[in-house]
Amino acid sequence: MGKRKALMAGNWKMHTTVVDGCQLAVDVSRACTDFPDREVLLAPPYTILSEVSHILKDSPIIVGSQNVCWEEKGAFTGEISPVMLKDAGGSAAIVGHSERRQIFGETDELVNRRLKGGLSFGLMMILCIGETLEEREAGRAFAVLYEQIKKGLADVAAVDMAKVVIAYEPVWAIGTGKTASNEQAQETHAFIRGVLEQIYEKNIAEQTRILYGGSVKPTNVDELMAQSDIDGALVGGAALDAKSFGRIINFQ
Ligand code: 13P
Repeated sequence: MGKRKALMAGNWKMHTTVVDGCQLAVDVSRACTDFPDREVLLAPPYTILSEVSHILKDSPIIVGSQNVCWEEKGAFTGEISPVMLKDAGGSAAIVGHSERRQIFGETDELVNRRLKGGLSFGLMMILCIGETLEEREAGRAFAVLYEQIKKGLADVAAVDMAKVVIAYEPVWAIGTGKTASNEQAQETHAFIRGVLEQIYEKNIAEQTRILYGGSVKPTNVDELMAQSDIDGALVGGAALDAKSFGRIINFQ
């Protein structure tokens, strides 16, 4: 881990009912002591955002959503606005997750709109990027990531980068049990930081947190977090179990 404050985030995806989501939030908050050097974020489904925020109101855990629209309100069926998210107690949002891109056809342009919209309402925004197995095997991983970063951050001012977190999630490692090797992950994170330096400047590249996601587990978190350009994790499956996520938060 570098000099940035670690961010350990749990993406609950389309899991948890009201009862089990609330229980999970309680259990995670018990597993989470207030570390000065790390932050914890939970992204429950929209249906329980308000309940989870309420449960965590006296805890340092940040609550975020798994996506967000750019408008305050209006005819956007199926969407939630940054204002609605804040009203429900949330202060962060994930955008550009590979499941949004691949299953729901979200483009870099749409992701960029969501990102800028969230920033304009003061949200912490987690921009997900990641290549597919086919792209990696064809030697195109860095070209794909470069494009996703450039387009995803288009027109995002340097000053707003303080609220932006990048999550590198190789698509082939999500929910598959395969993780990028530590070297592969470190090399890719360093590349991403280099792109940030090219778009902005060294200072901003140095300050921006870059999370790793894709089959992060209690058994591999320590070595991933030991890499100098890995500043945290975006966790799916293992975040649905308080014991596992608790161990991940407490990485050594
Ligand atoms: P898994 O941890 O289940 O591989 O999911 C990663 C992810 O997509 C987090 O956003």
